[in-house]
Amino acid sequence: MRKLTYYIACSIDGFIGDPEGDASAMYPFVDEEFLAFLVAEYPETIWTAGRRQMNIDDLPNKRFDTIIQGRGSYDLALKEGTTSPYSHLREYVASRTLGESPDPNVEIIADDLVGRVRALKAEDGAYDIYLCGGAKLAGELADEIDELIIKTYPIVQGSGMPMFDSGFAITQFALESVRSFGNGVLVRTYSRKR
Ligand SMILES: NC(=O)c1ccc[n+]([C@@H]2O[C@H](COP(=O)([O-])OP(=O)(O)OC[C@H]3O[C@@H](n4cnc5c(N)ncnc54)[C@H](OP(=O)(O)O)[C@@H]3O)[C@@H](O)[C@H]2O)c1
Repeated sequence: MRKLTYYIACSIDGFIGDPEGDASAMYPFVDEEFLAFLVAEYPETIWTAGRRQMNIDDLPNKRFDTIIQGRGSYDLALKEGTTSPYSHLREYVASRTLGESPDPNVEIIADDLVGRVRALKAEDGAYDIYLCGGAKLAGELADEIDELIIKTYPIVQGSGMPMFDSGFAITQFALESVRSFGNGVLVRTYSRKR
């Protein structure tokens, strides 16, 4: 089984962005040391345009070969004029309103989201599935998530967009690893206890 991994940037108090989802307060923490880590360990999670800018466009994928994001997150790419922000991955966008995909590399999932994700997880392959967010999609797919990789930035927001937009439910995860960085960023990996 391939894992569904929610790989996400958040504040100390668990918000992935401001109340509208804007995560730009976290960008200053992507300094030289942390960027080097991201490039070395998770190069496929960087937008294709960013990879081109950094001249790392030809780096092979390390953990993921597939990404799924909600239409809210995908809108950010569309606003930047990009229809395939992760063209080095197979891209899926959950949406009941987008209709036809604006890009041949992007498949829209309008129906049976959980069934489609289960089918992706059941495919053969060494690579996992990157659940990009946002909060609504993560809430919808919470029961399918096998792993969390949480990049925690040293800020407290008080309010904002939560990691999961879902009802109250306790799910246990086991801590697998923690990496810390000079600027206070932590990267924690958890596996779901089943
Ligand atoms: N900090 C981070 O690392 C990080 C990462 C990713 C995103 N974000 C932030 O998250 C924000 C977006 O989050 P969000 O919660 O507003 O939106 P979202 O989860 O990205 O997308 C929600 C949309 O996904 C579609 N969707 C959800 N469930 C579905 C289902 N069962 N079947 C079909 N489509 C479904 C719907 O699209 P339709 O309305 O088109 O039907 C829904 O409106 C962005 O502002 C972004 O900045 C932050």
